[in-house]
Amino acid sequence: MTMPRLLLGLLVSALDPLTQGAGSCTACHQQIVATFTQTAHFRTSAEATARSVKGPFAAGHNLLRTGSEGVYFKMERRNGAFYQTGVDSARGRSTTERIDVVVGSGRRGQSYLFWKAGLLFELPVSYLSGIGAWINSPGYHDGEVDFGRLIVPRCLECHATAFTLYRDRGALRYSRDYALGISCEKCHGAGQEHVQYHSSHPAEAVGKYVLNPARLPRDRQLDICALCHSGERDPKRPPFSYRPGAKLDDYVVPPSAREAPIPDVHGNQVGLLQRSKCFRSSPEMSCSTCHDVHQPERDVAQFAQKCLACHETSQHRMADKIGDRMMTDCIDCHMPNRKSNAIQIDTPTRRFALYYRSHAIGIYPAVAAMVLNSHKATENR
Ligand code: HEC
Ligand code: HEC
Ligand code: HEC
Ligand code: HEC
Ligand code: HEC
Ligand code: HEC
Ligand code: HEC
Repeated sequence: MTMPRLLLGLLVSALDPLTQGAGSCTACHQQIVATFTQTAHFRTSAEATARSVKGPFAAGHNLLRTGSEGVYFKMERRNGAFYQTGVDSARGRSTTERIDVVVGSGRRGQSYLFWKAGLLFELPVSYLSGIGAWINSPGYHDGEVDFGRLIVPRCLECHATAFTLYRDRGALRYSRDYALGISCEKCHGAGQEHVQYHSSHPAEAVGKYVLNPARLPRDRQLDICALCHSGERDPKRPPFSYRPGAKLDDYVVPPSAREAPIPDVHGNQVGLLQRSKCFRSSPEMSCSTCHDVHQPERDVAQFAQKCLACHETSQHRMADKIGDRMMTDCIDCHMPNRKSNAIQIDTPTRRFALYYRSHAIGIYPAVAAMVLNSHKATENR
């Protein structure tokens, strides 16, 4: 794949480098760093190690068979390194590449990349956590042995903190001074000046020379998350040039009416939230109203507490029917899990679907009826 020529010409720019790892913040923000490093953001990409690679390599679990006669994949661990081999026995062909970089914290799954000639390519086999098994990478046809999918910069822009692109004899390359995982600076901007200042002014109690998103107008706050949570958008400026505080529409093309009318639940929480009455009727509401991105959050009932800032459950029209399930089922009724149409995973026998929370907070009568019924079923048992 090639990048539009316009973008190539713009690649060399004088941006503040985002190279202060979370470690450089530890001295003064110990608690935040300790919990942030447990989050899916921080772990969304990493060098391949026994810890970061979640897929199984033990015999009996390390093969992916396909529907095509003689075509299969084998995952192996040798001398601390990990490899994928694609075999097409009918044609007498076999290709092996090393797993160099992991993409995905593993909450739902992981894809794997390898380096070749200064570029990153996707490996044909991914890992799906729900079934604990290897699968064809999303978008790959079952039975196809394809080690040639170039990783475009936009993929890394959403799953890493920094990558530098350069040109070598006219061809685009990734430089090796990259920063994997999403770190503090992706949302707070370059931190070097802040660290330097506070290191030499230990008595200073007011944070200087660093951006706190809470001080931005709502649209600019949303833009920080929308860089990665507003779905596929075409670039206007080079990847990795957006900095928090700027207007995102100047960097990627705004979603247009031409697109599918309903944003997908995968990767487009901004588009969905913006459709909800809660958001449209509350000028202050942003992602931070419910999320603290500095720590892992898995307790759905805790999220329901956030609704109470604006809603009173005693006023709920169905309060009698719902009873003491009000808090535990609140999110399931009003932000139901929905199937993503953006991701397709082919297997020899079926097509897998993934489900995500819909951020189109609203009234879903059919879902609510199902939630209420599922309780009747368990209560009668
Ligand atoms: C030498 C100490 C020190 C280091 C290192 C440090 N900070 Fe701070 N930071 C502070 C102090 C002091 C404050 C003000 C008190 C507070 O909000 O905790 C602050 C405040 C902040 C704020 C809030 C600013 C505001 O306007 O409200 C952010 C955001 C922040 N730091 C991010 C970072 C990041 C990211 C790093 C690592 C790249 C970092 N800090 C490293 C001392 C430090
Ligand atoms: C526009 C931003 C964006 C781009 C581009 C993008 N992703 Fe993602 N990806 C996300 C977001 C956001 C999530 C998780 C939230 C969601 O799915 O709604 C995610 C989830 C994932 C996951 C699952 C992680 C887990 O543990 O659950 C994998 C694996 C993944 N992406 C791989 C890739 C690869 C490989 C590419 C490029 C070839 C890519 N993504 C391109 C934003 C992006
Ligand atoms: C995904 C984006 C994102 C990342 C990554 C991130 N932050 Fe934040 N941070 C925010 C937002 C948004 C706020 C404002 C929260 C609010 O509105 O109250 C914030 C606020 C802060 C504050 C202000 C005080 C507070 O507790 O609210 C500090 C300090 C801070 N972040 C430090 C860090 C450090 C250190 C890291 C890395 C270890 C980090 N942040 C990573 C988005 C992020
Ligand atoms: C640089 C891209 C990027 C930015 C900026 C970003 N996210 Fe994410 N976010 C991701 C990716 C990628 C994932 C999936 C991580 C994974 O599981 O591998 C994710 C996952 C999440 C999750 C699910 C966490 C979990 O534990 O599964 C939440 C919630 C979230 N993001 C909220 C936010 C909010 C709120 C902001 C803005 C303050 C934000 N994100 C900014 C890329 C980003
Ligand atoms: C920042 C305030 C705020 C928060 C937080 C909030 N909402 Fe709302 N919500 C509103 C407002 C304002 C309305 C519109 C009320 C109206 O038009 O009468 C609304 C409307 C709704 C509606 C009616 C939607 C429709 O389409 O008719 C539902 C359902 C709802 N909220 C559920 C929730 C749930 C569940 C949560 C928590 C996950 C939540 N809200 C969090 C402010 C909020
Ligand atoms: C009214 C509360 C609320 C607001 C506002 C909100 N979220 Fe969420 N978000 C939730 C809840 C509840 C979940 C489900 C948590 C779970 O299931 O573990 C969630 C989950 C997520 C996930 C993981 C989705 C999945 O199924 O894996 C991402 C990513 C996310 N939110 C991003 C965002 C972004 C970006 C924004 C701002 C545009 C935002 N959220 C605003 C309540 C909210
Ligand atoms: C069993 C599913 C279920 C649970 C649990 C539930 N709701 Fe609802 N909610 C509904 C349904 C269905 C309606 C529409 C009722 C109607 O119009 O008669 C509704 C209506 C609403 C409305 C709109 C009221 C109006 O006057 O227009 C709000 C706001 C709301 N719910 C918030 C919440 C919050 C906040 C929680 C949890 C803290 C919650 N609900 C728990 C199913 C549920």
